[in-house]
Amino acid sequence: MIFPVLVLFSTLLCHIAIAGRTCPKPDDLPFAVVVPLKTFYEPGEQIVYSCKPGYVSRGGMRRFTCPLTGMWPINTLKCTRRVCPFAGILENGIVRYTSFEYPNTINFTCNPGFYLNGTSSSKCNEEGKWSPELPVCVPMACPPPPVPKSATLKAHKSLAGNTSLYGDTEVFECLPQHAMFGNDTITCTAHGNWTKLPECKEVKCPFPSRPDNGFVNYPAKQVLYYKDKATFGCHDTYTLDGPEEVECTKMGNWSALPSCKASCKISIKKATVLYQGMRVKIQDQFKDGMKHGDKVSFFCKNKEKKCSYTEEANCIDGTLEIPKCFKEHSSLAFWKTDAWDVKPC
Ligand SMILES: *[C@@H]1O[C@H](CO)[C@@H](O)[C@H](O)[C@H]1NC(C)=O
Ligand SMILES: *[C@@H]1O[C@H](CO)[C@@H](O)[C@H](O)[C@H]1NC(C)=O
Ligand SMILES: *[C@@H]1O[C@H](CO)[C@@H](O)[C@H](O)[C@H]1NC(C)=O
Ligand SMILES: *[C@@H]1O[C@H](CO)[C@@H](O)[C@H](O)[C@H]1NC(C)=O
Ligand SMILES: *[C@@H]1O[C@H](CO)[C@@H](O)[C@H](O)[C@H]1NC(C)=O
Ligand SMILES: *[C@@H]1O[C@H](CO)[C@@H](O)[C@H](O)[C@H]1NC(C)=O
Repeated sequence: MIFPVLVLFSTLLCHIAIAGRTCPKPDDLPFAVVVPLKTFYEPGEQIVYSCKPGYVSRGGMRRFTCPLTGMWPINTLKCTRRVCPFAGILENGIVRYTSFEYPNTINFTCNPGFYLNGTSSSKCNEEGKWSPELPVCVPMACPPPPVPKSATLKAHKSLAGNTSLYGDTEVFECLPQHAMFGNDTITCTAHGNWTKLPECKEVKCPFPSRPDNGFVNYPAKQVLYYKDKATFGCHDTYTLDGPEEVECTKMGNWSALPSCKASCKISIKKATVLYQGMRVKIQDQFKDGMKHGDKVSFFCKNKEKKCSYTEEANCIDGTLEIPKCFKEHSSLAFWKTDAWDVKPC
């Protein structure tokens, strides 16, 4: 009976002899864990501090033994966030981020005309790697463009061989006798489709009719088509009102249909007038009549102020209306002064 009691007693004694004081629960360190974690430790017991996943310390973990004093040594462990590789630049896109540290997430967007191959966000993980992997911005591609009916491809501008990428253009041309409706240039859009295709339509024009007192020439063909030309002219003393050459337009009519206008006979025997900024004798300048469209300015008298002013007259298809203020003197009335010899008002 005595023996077990003795053993118990001696172990107790022995224990008291070597025991110092127990260590308390170790201090919390940010982003670190303690193993094993207890409320108190016997002197001689060991603990290990290490950083939580996603955090690292220089020099790795720290091992401590509870000393007889019951006071843990000063712990200099510092756990800092892991840093992922720099990811601030995305070609043809934008990265939104605050930092590249665990456990942050960064976001990606691509510029117009580019799409993300990959995910729109990535997280810096516990191992200090981007997860999922960083994406790339890929240009939108358009399928080969259809060629409109009665058209041909005139120019192809592409960066990448046979596939068309965002911003590439194609230019079409219509076959002869066809006119283009719409834009001749199509562009590969940011949506990966082409802008609206133009249309080529056959366009015919009626034969232009001969103007009175004139003539018209056009190609000797069964049918006149888009861009065919016709030329007009007038018999002598008649003047063409409009362009000499006209073209068959895409509307199926002629760009103009000029007519022939008669010249004006001068009903005055003698007068000095302004013609193209110069004083000329009307009877000399227009011996063969005035052409349609010609303009002259007649001199008139202001009786009260005894001075002269001018008034314009226009030859319109054979008619020249002489201004009412103009007075033609009889050649016998030699004592009268002509308006063109009076000082201007
Ligand atoms: C990334 O996008 C998410 C969801 O839209 C948003 O909550 C987060 O703030 C964005 N992060 C950054 C750094 O812009
Ligand atoms: C997208 O990325 C994957 C993986 O990097 C690659 O295999 C694939 O070819 C890419 N697709 C395009 C359209 O670039
Ligand atoms: C483009 O397409 C043509 C025929 O469709 C082919 O012969 C040529 O090899 C292609 N070129 C490239 C760069 O893919
Ligand atoms: C045709 O389209 C191109 C680009 O798609 C544009 O720059 C041009 O102004 C357009 N032309 C007309 C006449 O609309
Ligand atoms: C191209 O695709 C966009 C988006 O799907 C659509 O809104 C647009 O109308 C399309 N354009 C043409 C010319 O088909
Ligand atoms: C040609 O026809 C179009 C449409 O019918 C019209 O707007 C235009 O004025 C015509 N042009 C001429 C020179 O008659």
